[in-house]
Amino acid sequence: MIGSLVATALWAMLPAYVPNNVAVLAGGGRPIDGGRTWNGKRVLGDGKTWRGTAAGTLAGVLLAVGLNAVNGSVSAAIGVELPTFPYHAAFALAFGAMCGDIAASFLKRRSGRERGASFPGLDQLDFVVAALVFTRVIAPDWFGEWFTLGVIAVVLVITPVLHVGTNVIAFAIGVKNEPW
Ligand code: CTP
Ligand code: MG
Repeated sequence: MIGSLVATALWAMLPAYVPNNVAVLAGGGRPIDGGRTWNGKRVLGDGKTWRGTAAGTLAGVLLAVGLNAVNGSVSAAIGVELPTFPYHAAFALAFGAMCGDIAASFLKRRSGRERGASFPGLDQLDFVVAALVFTRVIAPDWFGEWFTLGVIAVVLVITPVLHVGTNVIAFAIGVKNEPW
């Protein structure tokens, strides 16, 4: 029971987990805020770029397409019926994750935190909350079918753990400037 909840939660959230990591690798170029400030502080900062956001969103959607292709064999192998992603759900998960991260940067700048500063709690949950909200709005039927209360609870518990883990690894191998 808990095993199938975890499997469903992980699978359903993969298109939301990958975009931020791809943005780290693909980011750069023109910042979304164009260098603009608000009350003397950058609106978003140089860490939120058009290229990173587009690449991250595209990567999440492509990953969902790939997961759909192997859904049958993986579901059979683990004995759990895993979700397939319609395009609008895949987009909502990936783009929602990117927007949550962007919204977090907006809040960090308003509270005087420089680019790269940590904001415990917000850093770990910004993207997952936004991905869930976007999906609930853009793909309500699909959301209702797969994101039961149990799955949502598992997502909220395992996401911070996975996020901290992958960022520590990305920092250790030198692709990220800070371990958060
Ligand atoms: N990135 C990007 N576009 C995004 C998100 C991330 O280009 N929408 C890239 C940037 O190169 C960024 C890196 O990924 O520096 C790491 O992302 P993140 O930790 O979210 O940004 P920070 O640089 O730490 O800035 P912030 O304090 O605003 O989070
Ligand atoms: Mg950061």
